Order: sequence, then structure tokens, then C-alpha cells
Amino acid sequence: MSEHPHTLPYPLQSADGSEPGRLVRPLLALARWVDEYAARHREDRTAAGPSIWEPIHLGVGEDGRPLRLPLIYRNMLLAGEPGAGKSVGLNNIVAHAALSADCRLWLFDGKIVELGLWRSCAERFIANDLDDAIQALLDLQSEMDSRYAVLDEQRRRKIAPSDGVEPIVVVLDELAYFAATVGTKREQEAFSVLVRDLVARGRAAGIIVIAATQRPSADIIPTSLRDLFGYRWAFRCTTDTSSDIVLGHGWAARGYSSASVAPEAKGIGFLLAEGGIPRRVKAAYLSDAEVYALADRAALHRLATGLAHHNADGQAVDDTRSRS
Ligand SMILES: Nc1ncnc2c1ncn2[C@@H]1O[C@H](COP(=O)(O)OP(=O)(O)O)[C@@H](O)[C@H]1O
Ligand SMILES: [Mg+2]
Repeated sequence: MSEHPHTLPYPLQSADGSEPGRLVRPLLALARWVDEYAARHREDRTAAGPSIWEPIHLGVGEDGRPLRLPLIYRNMLLAGEPGAGKSVGLNNIVAHAALSADCRLWLFDGKIVELGLWRSCAERFIANDLDDAIQALLDLQSEMDSRYAVLDEQRRRKIAPSDGVEPIVVVLDELAYFAATVGTKREQEAFSVLVRDLVARGRAAGIIVIAATQRPSADIIPTSLRDLFGYRWAFRCTTDTSSDIVLGHGWAARGYSSASVAPEAKGIGFLLAEGGIPRRVKAAYLSDAEVYALADRAALHRLATGLAHHNADGQAVDDTRSRS
């Protein structure tokens, strides 16, 4: 018998099972490494990727220059006929938000498959259930109210990056699905009232609403709601009237109508930003493969920074609901 116990090649366990540590130890080392990685990145979140406080790349303008807009303290409405390019436009925003480890992402997708690719990056993913959608909006409303209570206490007007309060990007793909297609009239109204409240009051509390609809009509986008959106992006519409419903009354008569966009010109629309004049913009295109790659990367990054697992109170959340 030799003086030293013989060693088996890593990571096999010894034949008689007497050294279970051999298997467990590498796993412990791995877990510790993951913890250290997460801690390092938690300290240095923004340095590791884009930030929601920075402008977001949306596409190119007619002058060929990239168009970047800050979304913090703003809301955006995207509308246009089916197939015009709204979801592609949305993907640019969701990608930026998902990769920004300094914000949270709440996705509402009546079709499930449009924003579904980003599901693993979302703190909350609401599919085609109006009840869930209303509950989620109520949760957002109470989050907004408590943020305002804190701001009021501190005699401040809006959140700032130094607060550590994470902006919440709320993306609604197909407003009309929740506001006019499923559920009862009362539920649809409740949904619309909640959306309006978030769009009206959410900005300073860091709640950014991005809403898309393929029904640019007065019942889905009443003037009072439309006017609350600082950014409005009208993709191809069938008539000047529906283009005006998105951009604002009178723009079509002045030559800015998304009905002038050719049906085959996918992804082109007029973007009105905060009281300027509408600009013709082509949305940047992300292929499905690129979206998959970005979503995977963002999800891993969020996992490492602990964002995907916990809400601001440190409670575990799942991706369907966290009703209390
Ligand atoms: N910016 C773009 N660049 C290139 N192709 C685009 C662009 N936007 C849309 N498309 C094409 O049009 C199709 C429909 O776009 P999508 O965003 O799904 O429309 P919508 O959401 O408005 O119904 C896309 O699958 C893509 O092939
Ligand atoms: Mg779409």
C-alpha cells in the first residue's frame, strides 16, 4: 500500500463513493465564481452595456444620419397598417432596454410571438389575458404612486440616475388587442384608463410607455391619449386621416402624411419628436437571428446582474405574474 491515497482523475468519484467531495468541490467553485461575477457586475452595471439613460438608436433619417432619441422621461406611440414595420421598430427599443441592466422591462404582447423572443429579459411578460394585463397595470400604477410619494417627501420632481431607482420600460404591442378586442367593455375601459394614467403621469417616475397599434383610429387613439405621447411614429397608414390621428391634426395637409409611404417601403414612417416637425425615418432592421442573439445575451447579462430574478424589493418574481 502506498503512503499517499491515490487520486482519481477529475471529476470522477472514487469507486467506493467515499470521496463525494470530488464531485461537489468543482461545483462549489463554479457557484462561487458566478457569485463573484454577479457581485462585480452589480457594482458596475452601466459600464457593462448600454443604459436606459442614453439615447436609443432607432434607424436612419432621410439625410442618412443615424437617428437616436432618449426615451427616459418620454413615451412613444407607434402606429400604422399591419406589416408596416411597427414590431421591427419596437425591437430596437426593446433590445436597447433589455441590454440596459439599469432598467426593468415589462412586456405586453397580445400576439405572444412578437415580444415573446424577449420574454427571458422581462421582469413581467403579459400574454393575451386581459385580466393579467389589468393586474399588471395596477401594479405599475401603485409602483408609480409610491415613487411619487418618495419624490414628494424629498421635495423633488423626478427620479435621477443616482437614485438607484430603476426606470421601467413598458412595451405594449397591439394596444387595440387589449383595448378593443378581448374582454368585456368594462374591462377594456379599465385597461384604457390605466394606460392613459401611466402615459400621463409615469414619465417623471421613470415609467416609460411604448405603445404600438395597427388601428390608427379615433377609438383606439383618442386625441387626449395621442397628445400625451411626446414621440409619435406613424408608419404607413391607408389614409391621411389615420396618419393625422397618430401625428396630430393638420400634419397631412402640410405634407407630412404616412399615407404617402409606399406599401412596399417597409419600416419607413414619419416620426414626430417633442413638438418638432415629423421626420421621415427608416427603422433599423433586426433579423430574427439577431434578435435571438441579442435576447440571449441580454438575458444572461440580466441573470448575472441579478435583475431578472428580483424586483426592487428583493422579492423573487416569475415571468407571468407576481400577484400578492
Ligand atoms: N425597417 C425595416 N427594414 C426592413 N424590412 C422591414 C423593416 N420593417 C419591417 N420590415 C419587413 O416587414 C415585415 C413586417 O414588419 P412588422 O414590423 O412585423 O410589421 P407590423 O408590426 O407593423 O405589422 C417584417 O417581417 C420585415 O420583413
Ligand atoms: Mg406587429
